[in-house]
Amino acid sequence: MERSISNRFYFDYNATSPLSKRVVDFLHSGDFLFGNPASLHQSGKKSRKFINESIEYIQRLFNLREHRLFFHSGASEGINSIFKGLAFKFFKEGKKASFFFSEVDHACVVQLKNDLEALGHVVQFFGVDKNGLFDKEKLIKSLLNEVSEGRECFMNYTYVNNESGVVWPLEWAAEIKKETRCFVHVDAVQAAGKIPNWEVLNEELDAYTFSGHKFGALKGIGFTFFKKDLEFNPLIVGGTQQEGLRAGTENALGVYSIKLALHDMKENFNPDDLSVAKNELEEALVEFIGDRGEVVARSSPYRNLNTIFLVLYGQKAEVLSAKFDMMGIDLSTGSACSSGIIKENRILMAMGYSYEDSRAALRFSFSPFLRKSEVAGYVEKIKSILK
Ligand SMILES: Cc1ncc(COP(=O)(O)O)c(C=O)c1O
Repeated sequence: MERSISNRFYFDYNATSPLSKRVVDFLHSGDFLFGNPASLHQSGKKSRKFINESIEYIQRLFNLREHRLFFHSGASEGINSIFKGLAFKFFKEGKKASFFFSEVDHACVVQLKNDLEALGHVVQFFGVDKNGLFDKEKLIKSLLNEVSEGRECFMNYTYVNNESGVVWPLEWAAEIKKETRCFVHVDAVQAAGKIPNWEVLNEELDAYTFSGHKFGALKGIGFTFFKKDLEFNPLIVGGTQQEGLRAGTENALGVYSIKLALHDMKENFNPDDLSVAKNELEEALVEFIGDRGEVVARSSPYRNLNTIFLVLYGQKAEVLSAKFDMMGIDLSTGSACSSGIIKENRILMAMGYSYEDSRAALRFSFSPFLRKSEVAGYVEKIKSILK
């Protein structure tokens, strides 16, 4: 991927990623797989073939033998499909279920609360500490408590946090599963290209959701793996596409772009190179900033390889981000509301930061292909803006 895109420096890979090389090359070929995969003519059959080929590739890559998958428009839809789908199923059966989310989950999880409660279910949130980690024993206890009351439990597990870059190991999720037998959905949106062994998943866990645009595929396409025996109400009904799991004409080009982008990532991602480059950049920034700020969860071993979430004491994120923008750098404050005014950052507040600090955060999220040779130039640029 390019170091500089459209003459800008792009440090917002957790928001979205540029298209991967194989995807760009395919688009340049001028073949957009326009045929409806449900059609029986040659154009339709061609789209179907590309979808089947992509499914085979994805299944081989992630190697989950007890799961199947469906495609959707992206992780927000995938996550809504799973949790609302389960909530509807239980509602129809007259059963009350318990949902466990964390305070640092993505908004597409957190905002399910009202709808799930409207269906009569209970939604509980678990907190995190200053390093973005949760208390596993306490969580297991709470889940077991619900189970002992005869309630089915469904939990979301954010593998890699999009704001803080904090990683919750999959082994912890597997331990929770083993101890409680509760349903565990893994939000794996921020895994590919941001942690080592991103493609190694745990067969015990019930479901995983990915979003194409986070790793170089097109926007508007994602996929969710779920255990073959899981039953849930489909969120989108209509046609019989994808065996009724998600009605609507299938997005052959989007699906194929996922295959191409995953292929690129699998072939080219080198966690050691990224780690060396990111650490060097982070060390230079930390030295420059001194006691004027801090990198969130800096001393924790549970961090991804591409994210530096920086709190600059007494600063206003909107002022800083406007400066970066003017100087040609794209990054995120992680807390702009729709009117562009900076609100407190929900994730930092959950991690115990003050209201002021949570309005003074900048998130740098780098390309999976950041290299040591680029770091010195980036550091100089960033320093010149922060000065
Ligand atoms: C952790 C996480 N979950 C879910 C989503 C939602 O993904 P999408 O934009 O594909 O709907 C995002 C997007 O930022 C994310 O970072």
